[in-house]
This record gives sequence, structure tokens and C-alpha cells, in this order.
Amino acid sequence: MSQPLPVAPIEDITVLIFGASGDLTSRKLIPALYRLYKDGFLSDRSLVIGVARRPKSDESFRAELLAAASDHARDGMDLESWTRFAERLHYVQANLSSPEDFHRLRQEVESLEQDNGLTGKRLVYLSTAPELFLPSIESMAAAGMIPPPEHRDRLRVIIEKPFGHDVESAHSLSESLNRLLSEDQIYRIDHYLGKETVQNLLLFRFGNAIFEPLFNRNHVDHIQITVGETQGIEGGRGGYYDKAGALRDVLQNHVLQLLCLVAMEPPASFEADYIRNEKLKVLQSLAPGRPGGPIADWAVAGQYAAAAIKGKRVKAYLDEERIDPDSRTETFAALQVRIDNWRWAGVPFYLRTGKRMPSRVTEIAIQFKLPPLNLFHTVECDGDVCGIVDARPNTLVFHIQPKECISLTFCAKRPGMNYQVQPVNMDFSYQNTFSGGLPEAYERLLLDAMRGDSTLFTRSDELEAAWRFLDPVLKAWESADHHPELYPAGQWGPKAAHQLLQRSGRSWRSPDVEAAPAKPITNATVTVDTPVE
Ligand code: BG6
Repeated sequence: MSQPLPVAPIEDITVLIFGASGDLTSRKLIPALYRLYKDGFLSDRSLVIGVARRPKSDESFRAELLAAASDHARDGMDLESWTRFAERLHYVQANLSSPEDFHRLRQEVESLEQDNGLTGKRLVYLSTAPELFLPSIESMAAAGMIPPPEHRDRLRVIIEKPFGHDVESAHSLSESLNRLLSEDQIYRIDHYLGKETVQNLLLFRFGNAIFEPLFNRNHVDHIQITVGETQGIEGGRGGYYDKAGALRDVLQNHVLQLLCLVAMEPPASFEADYIRNEKLKVLQSLAPGRPGGPIADWAVAGQYAAAAIKGKRVKAYLDEERIDPDSRTETFAALQVRIDNWRWAGVPFYLRTGKRMPSRVTEIAIQFKLPPLNLFHTVECDGDVCGIVDARPNTLVFHIQPKECISLTFCAKRPGMNYQVQPVNMDFSYQNTFSGGLPEAYERLLLDAMRGDSTLFTRSDELEAAWRFLDPVLKAWESADHHPELYPAGQWGPKAAHQLLQRSGRSWRSPDVEAAPAKPITNATVTVDTPVE
């Protein structure tokens, strides 16, 4: 196997994390930066400066992060490299909503940079409440922390989601930011794009010649994208989630980005803007799966109700911490959409995401059309009742998480004296193929932003196109007479989500069952060996 590419450490960088006392900093950002440092991507001069409101010394900041990093560092951590990394960590107390604090912040950052021989090339990570995105940048400008346009590569800003809450607010935020920063300084993060298995979609599609000719309306029956989570609304997130809901929290960003990658045209070159131009075209071609009728014909909202999961009582969404007891926020969203272009016209795309699903799974399943003729009359029995089953379609599944693999289901002959069809899988699994763990999404994305590579970040026009498509759904779901349909926690959403597919004779996959590795074909799996006449 080929060796990893040699690493050229980034010599001159100050990473500033605004909102450094939040959960994201301890669970994701610091473990990712530590790993980049340990792997030699960050030099011994680089600085990571946490900025937040609470007073804290460097020592107590480091001590808090040590505890978090021991829990969250990929493949664990060793004290020796952590101690060296911790020397790079500093804390500056500042109230991000108080412009005056930014003058002091600037002085403290500059003084640290001077002490470490750094020239002030900065990456600012806005890990704050969304209402502080713009004020933070405005205060940076007022404190002289935004370099002039000719030196704009000295400052890059990563902005977490939610970037707006509808098309208007996203547009107005972009406009306001663009008065102070140029588009190539803004890195809107969608951590799904940093996942190794998501990036592999592009390589799989455009680095192989055999699959791409099949990715179109002539061969594909439909595509399903699922982002399912078993967790409910964990401590502290209720306040945010109850305002967002599943459509804004996951579907508008993660699910639509997956859709773009699986549906886009090959880019002319593997460069940020070429790829983002192709993704934008997909978003601009999105259309309701069943146009002309009410939104409920193609968009389903659900909310989890209390239920017992594996014998354990799980509370309803409405009883979770910091949730309005009368909330109509959806914890599940399913859409049937079309991509009205030459490649995909007529192919339904079914998208779903939800909390309190039966399993944690993210996958994209491409179901191909059936062979034109069912030549093999396979018999299957359920107890004493036997019958001929339909031909089985080929399915190509990108398992994004938790199992990282790609599997192709096709039909094989069951051993025996007749032609009986057995669906079997051909699997490529990361774990069995590559040694070493996969990099965490935030490692890749932080490094790309430091290097100035925006390929895996979302451009403002992409974001606005996504909001524009979803705006009518959001409006319909916010109207006074709309209520999400309840589903018992631990199930794949409400009945209406199943009806979306049933009316065209299709059904959702059960990823927990179908993601299981193919059973070996043995005579033991053959139940009946004589065709029914
Ligand atoms: C985040 C959402 O963007 O993605 C969360 O805000 C969600 O609600 C999370 O749980 C899922 O990410 P992952 O990487 O765990 O699938």
C-alpha cells in the first residue's frame, strides 16, 4: 500500500476560537487541533487562543481541555504530545457582544504572536450563538483586526451553522459579512463534507469509469438518503433545537449536501469553485416530488412520542429539557424531491432525517431499475406458505456511518438444482482495507481552512439555493394549523413518511437490517429447491 503523503507543517498560524467555553470546542475543535499538531500538520510556533466571556487563566483552560481531550481525542492521547500542545493553548477573556473588549483582545493576541515569532496570520472560528456572528466580525473590524483587501489571505473565518434560518436571513447575513470580508475569507462549515466517506463519494463517482454511466434516469429507479440518530435532544440543546427542528438542523445542510454529491455533474477540474458550481446547479434544479398539490404530498414532519426502547422508557420530545411543552417543532423530516435536469428527470429522491430513530445510520442508497424480464422464478417460504418472489433490484449503498463501507447488492444463483436467485453483497469496507483510523471531519476542515482550500465548505449561493427550495416547507410547517405527526421513539418516523413511498409501490430501506454484511451462500439458506408451478 502506498505511504501517506509527507506532511508540511503550517508554520505561521494563530487559531482564535470565539465561544471557546462551548461544547464544540471541547468535543471537536480541540481534539482535532491536538491531532493535527500531533501528526505534524501544525508547527511548534502555532497558537490556539480560546476567547469567551468567563474569566479563566491559561492553566485552568488547559486543565479543562485536557479532561475533554482524553475523552474525545481520536485513538486516545498521550501525555507527552498533549503537554507540548497545551503550551500552544491560551485563553483570553472577552465579551463578544462588547466591541470595547476587542481592542484588548487585539493587544493580547498580538503580544502572544510576537512572543512566538508569528506574523499574525489568523484563522477565526466562530463557535458562538448565531446572533454573535455578525457583531463579532463588526467588532473585529472596529478594532483593526481585519486586514486590508491586499492582505486578505491573513485572515480566514470559519462560521458554524445555522447560517440564517431562511433564505432572507441567510442572504442578509451574507451581504452584511461581505461588507467586511471577501467571500474567499469566509468558510461556512458543514462537518458532513469533512467526513472521509462523504469525500469518497466524489472519488468513487469521478475516479472510476464503470459506475458513472449508470448514474442517471435510464438506470436508476430511485435514491434514498437517510441520516438517522438514536439520540433525542441531549442536555442543553433544547433551546436551540426547538427553534430549529430537523429540517433546519440536518436536512437543509447535511442531507442536501449529500444529495449534491451523489447527483452533481463531473466538475471540469477538482477545484473549489468548479465543484461548488456543480453542487449549486443541483440545488437550483430541486423541485417538489409531487408538484401542484399541497406540501404534505411530498414533505412529512414528525415528532417523537414517549415509548419503550429495548425495555427502557424514553420520554417524549415535549418532555425534554428546555422544550416548549406545546412545541410543534419536528424531530423528523422526510421529503420526496426531484432534480429537474437531463440526468435525473423523473427519478424520485427520498430524503429523511430524525432523532430517536431505531439506529444511528447515515447512508445513501441508489436503487437501480429491475431487469426488463424476470426470468428466474425464485420461491420463498414463510412457514408453510411458499410463493414466487419478484426480481430483486441492484442497490449501491454508500454507508457513511457508523459502518464505513460501500456495498453493491446483486443477484447470484443459489446452489442447487434449480435457478433460484439469492441477493448477495460485494462490500468495500474502510476498516478491512486501510489501516489506521479515519481522520475526524473537523481535522480535515480545520486544516483545509488554514491552507486556504475551500472545496469542502459551502458557498453563499449554495446555501441560499438550499434555503430557497425549503422556504415553502418551513412556512407551511410554521403555519398555525400544522402539527407534526407523532411517532413512537425508536421507530423510523410517522406513518405518513412510509406512505410517501408506498403510493408508488416502493418502501424505505431498513438500514439496521440491510446494512448487515451479506450472509454466505450455503445450501443451508436454501429453503425450497423445487419451483412452484
Ligand atoms: C449537527 C446537528 O449538525 O449534526 C446535530 O446540529 C446532529 O443535531 C449532528 O446530531 C449529527 O452529526 P453526526 O456527525 O453525529 O452525524
